[in-house]
Amino acid sequence: MDKRSEKSSVSVEMAPMEGITTAVFRRVYTKWFKGIDRMYTPFLVANSTHRFKTREKREIEICSQDLVPQIMTNNAQHFIWAALELQKAGFGEVNLNAGCPSATVTTKKKGAGMLEDIRAFRAFLDEIFLAKESGSFPEISVKTRVGVSSYLEAEDIADLYSRYPFSRVIVHPRIRDDFYKNEPNREAFGIFYDRIPHETLVFNGDLRTPEDVRKIREAFPEISGIMIGRGLLADLFLPERIRRGDDAAGDLSPDGEKEILSGFLEELYDEYERGLSESAAIAKMKDLWNFMAVSFPDNKKQIKAISKSGNVREYKAAVVNCLRTYS
Ligand SMILES: Cc1cc2nc3c(=O)[nH]c(=O)nc-3n(C[C@H](O)[C@H](O)[C@H](O)COP(=O)(O)O)c2cc1C
Repeated sequence: MDKRSEKSSVSVEMAPMEGITTAVFRRVYTKWFKGIDRMYTPFLVANSTHRFKTREKREIEICSQDLVPQIMTNNAQHFIWAALELQKAGFGEVNLNAGCPSATVTTKKKGAGMLEDIRAFRAFLDEIFLAKESGSFPEISVKTRVGVSSYLEAEDIADLYSRYPFSRVIVHPRIRDDFYKNEPNREAFGIFYDRIPHETLVFNGDLRTPEDVRKIREAFPEISGIMIGRGLLADLFLPERIRRGDDAAGDLSPDGEKEILSGFLEELYDEYERGLSESAAIAKMKDLWNFMAVSFPDNKKQIKAISKSGNVREYKAAVVNCLRTYS
């Protein structure tokens, strides 16, 4: 294997981010940027209504090989309903959310809250995998944290996942109580690395540069993928840089990058504005800029102008100003 293909052999996956990596974002992003192998929808709630909300339906309107819908529920029958519904829509895999740390979710024992009661979680998994064995069913993957309030929980959780034929186990090695504090815990990821088939294992958490990815792959050489969220939003060229294993995005000059970035931001705004009011479209762009801002440390004034812009004219002028010094 030559050096280049060895570098790119890991699958590079876009993390689901509620409100940010929407269908509109994913469509426009993949038109302008390269390097992403798989994407996940932000979570879709499966509940007793056995119906997705209109906003959720938009997420799954366009079915593609590289898109995996994510389901949030702790009820096996609701999960099975959603999985079959998504299979009918053409999806070959569904992803279970066992990682969301938000209190509104975990107090209902969903998301990372599922990890609190291993017996209940096991009963849930038994039921959904039984359904999978019994008939036509999509592949099941999971995106998980490694515990709720202690890293000592990681072993039991990894043991539990190792009993089931998940197509992918995406591990964000933080506990729920850490939210996004502290560093992802490599030791905890190691516990999963020891127990979960490597061809299904994906690392997620705080990967912001090709160097971060290189270090993770050095520590865990056989993982099948890496998932990037905030790092991708901060540097939209990151997947391409990771593929190349260096800091340069393809053969692009800073001017070339700037052109792509401007084109992308313009089209994303226009696409949002087609379905939303002007102020809602601007709000969507500001949400994105909140994550992009770290890449413009010397442009505090320009970033502030973006966040204060009250109409499209002000917003677009502030963006042009901010990108003027892009290098
Ligand atoms: C605003 C926001 C929304 C998120 N929405 C979801 C979601 O819908 N489903 C999910 O599994 N994770 C969600 N996450 C978690 C990310 O997918 C990811 O696991 C986390 O940000 C850590 O990865 P990163 O350091 O690469 O960003 C969200 C995170 C943020 C910051």
